[in-house]
Amino acid sequence: MAMRPRRALLYVPGDQERKLRKAAGLTVDSVCFDLEDGVAWPHKAAARALVARVLGELTFAAGERLVRIHPPQGPDGGPAAADLDAVLSAHPDGIVVPKVEAPWQLHWVAYRLQQAEERYGWPVGSVRLLAILETARGVEARNSIARATPRLDALLFGAEDYTADLGAQRSPDNREVLYARQAVVAAAKAHNLQAIDIVYIRYKDLEGLAREAREAAAWGFDGKQVIHPAQVPVVQQAFTPTADAVAYARRVLEAYERGRAQGLGVVALDGKMIDMPMVKAARRVLARAGEAA
Ligand code: COA
Ligand code: MG
Repeated sequence: MAMRPRRALLYVPGDQERKLRKAAGLTVDSVCFDLEDGVAWPHKAAARALVARVLGELTFAAGERLVRIHPPQGPDGGPAAADLDAVLSAHPDGIVVPKVEAPWQLHWVAYRLQQAEERYGWPVGSVRLLAILETARGVEARNSIARATPRLDALLFGAEDYTADLGAQRSPDNREVLYARQAVVAAAKAHNLQAIDIVYIRYKDLEGLAREAREAAAWGFDGKQVIHPAQVPVVQQAFTPTADAVAYARRVLEAYERGRAQGLGVVALDGKMIDMPMVKAARRVLARAGEAA
């Protein structure tokens, strides 16, 4: 099944009605209503009710509506159970599970999603799952988590929680998260999942954001988590191939086809060798450009 593009995934605190309504008008691939760390404990119950109401009331300009719940804990799930009880009947498009450390946490959520689908007559498997790896345990368990359920679409990496868990210090060049970011992309791609990169917390610095987003796209990430409306167009553009990149991808495919017609598996273009890996990369660029259109 083809996955929907998720170039930007915008978090909105679940207890802030003004922002929830604002998000509905934005052209963004994914909006994620947050019930976890973006909401203070005294406001959890009100946030759950508000998110359910807004999901039911508002039509969204574009993209999907996700809800970030708490990580399931213990046999009854802990706060995650109250999160799902409150929002599932309002039919979100997907659930984001943070701080995932073991496959059972995704099994637990997937089982409840299947129950809701059966109860409300929605297609089985239609409510999707996205997992955030943002602890040392979660990053090390990435492959078993990636395999947990066919409902899973994406692995997200969270740098702030991860470095807090490690006792590492955040730095502007992201060196302390280099291994984990790359490990998460590799694990996602090994299991045909999307990889979604870290939040850029200095939300007024759009140049720095664009740089980090272009780097992520070049590393194979499919999208980036964002926290402010101004970040959305910058990030969505960074994950959309440029006209030059699309034109070059077409030329690569043409050159390869011409070679193949002559029985050649390797050809030259602009003084560079073109063979199968470049052809695959070119097809990926065109697919991305098509999704973004
Ligand atoms: N979603 C929707 N709308 C948002 C938004 C968001 N994440 N962040 C800001 N806005 C709105 C504001 O309400 C404001 O609209 P208004 O002028 O009509 O009221 C407009 O965009 C400009 O916002 P601005 O004043 O620049 O930012 P702020 O000071 O209100 O908020 C943050 C800054 C960082 C607190 C805010 O962007 C935010 O809450 N981000 C999400 C944080 C989050 O969910 N964290 C958990 C996951 S990492
Ligand atoms: Mg987090």
